[in-house]
Amino acid sequence: MNVIILAIESSCDDTSAAVIRNGEVLSNCIANQEVHRQYGGVVPEVASRAHQANIIPVVNLALQKAGIGKEAVQAVAFTRGPGLLGSLLVGTSFAKAFALSRGLPLIEVNHMQAHVLAHFAEDPKPAFPFLCLTVSGGHTQIVLVRDFLDMEVIGETLDDAAGEAFDKSGKLLGLGYPAGPLIDKFARQGEARFPFPEPSVPGLNFSFSGLKTSILYFLKKEMGNDPDFIEKNLNDICASIQTSIITILMKKLRKAARQTGIGEIAIAGGVSANSGLREALEATGKKEGWKTYIPAFQYCTDNAGMIGVAGYYKYLKSDFCGQDAIPFAR
Ligand code: KG4
Ligand code: ZN
Repeated sequence: MNVIILAIESSCDDTSAAVIRNGEVLSNCIANQEVHRQYGGVVPEVASRAHQANIIPVVNLALQKAGIGKEAVQAVAFTRGPGLLGSLLVGTSFAKAFALSRGLPLIEVNHMQAHVLAHFAEDPKPAFPFLCLTVSGGHTQIVLVRDFLDMEVIGETLDDAAGEAFDKSGKLLGLGYPAGPLIDKFARQGEARFPFPEPSVPGLNFSFSGLKTSILYFLKKEMGNDPDFIEKNLNDICASIQTSIITILMKKLRKAARQTGIGEIAIAGGVSANSGLREALEATGKKEGWKTYIPAFQYCTDNAGMIGVAGYYKYLKSDFCGQDAIPFAR
């Protein structure tokens, strides 16, 4: 069977389109919305408007890069949620219009499932069952993945997501948005010499709001003694914040692996681009005897390639949706 899918992702602030042939990503194009930087976070209405401007050019680019004409597309996959409603509406409406005008089946994709299935865009692919720590700006989950479309969330954050912890801490330090990649960069040159208390959360769940508060109080106190404290110690503060977040994540991941007896361990989502987390996974994997899986950078942060891969496995099951599918926020 030869199946070509056009995939659309517009859940947050990146407009992305991809072309997938038989599960293989031929093109994966992303229009980043730099406009949010000046506000220190994503402004939902600004995001929807930018998606509206970007969607046609990014789809045309994806088709062109894949060397595929519109007439060759056999199905359209789109992110239905979770995400920002105004942003999701742009991708959803585009996907519906494209499918309607060409008489094609529509495939709705769950954004979090797609982050997990990003692991099937390239080799090496994890074997079932595996555990996936999905860490993004909006979610932090440990997912037990039994099959392509059979997943169970066995742990999640009770408050902030790991990416949010990076971004909010970065804001306290006066860093731009998103702060995750910047903290990563500064942390590489620093030493984690400022300890922050670890939250005590039962089971496999996470909490990051306490960390944000302790960073706030720590900075207030130190700045009271020396107004240039952040400037003088930026690398070490970033290394300390990053180490704290990674410690919280890895502790629960180890617990989940021991509890389930599963040794195939993956990470996914925007925060899986973090160099410290990638190193920690490899190091812990060696110690614990895990086989570890880390996606290529282009499949970590939001991208339509992962939506297309998820769409492909739904296509194989004829799991289509109607024109009445509406986006969901969470
Ligand atoms: O998956 P994603 O692109 O979008 C959501 O679905 O939320 O994740 C975005 C998040 C942001 O919070 C960003 O700061 C974080 O991923 N992020 C990173 C890194 N790259 C992106 N966090 C830490 N280190 C990085 N290198
Ligand atoms: Zn995401």
